[in-house]
Amino acid sequence: MKVALSGVLFLFSAIASAQDASVGKDLFQECVACHSIKSGENLVGPSLAGTYGKKAGAAEGFRYSGPLKKSGLTWDEGALDAYIANPQAAIPGTRMPYSGMSSAESRKNLIAYLRTL
Ligand code: HEC
Repeated sequence: MKVALSGVLFLFSAIASAQDASVGKDLFQECVACHSIKSGENLVGPSLAGTYGKKAGAAEGFRYSGPLKKSGLTWDEGALDAYIANPQAAIPGTRMPYSGMSSAESRKNLIAYLRTL
């Protein structure tokens, strides 16, 4: 019984720690005030449709800050993780008025969601 239970617990924690886009979708509530997921729809921030894997500053028709445009970043897992954790540390001078998401696990889930857009 004990062995079976620890097996279940192990499985459960493995699932809980996997990237979860559906959890990320809920976390995206922190971003919707400024970011649309519709391609071409820029709000206070640029549309995030298709942003994953693209170069920073590539959304059509959005006026980016100089530091973001010149960052030379590509929005892969690592770059997104750093920017969402602390925008000003990742790109000093960026105009994104977001203080950052401290939980690494939440950031993982959020990025899993961004990947689906
Ligand atoms: C209060 C408004 C606001 C909130 C909230 C916000 N952002 Fe932004 N975001 C911006 C602005 C403005 C920019 C453009 C920054 C610049 O030009 O320096 C931006 C830029 C970005 C970029 C770069 C996009 C590109 O095309 O290069 C990403 C990625 C991003 N935000 C993700 C997020 C995520 C994920 C969240 C939620 C956790 C979030 N943002 C929350 C306003 C916001």
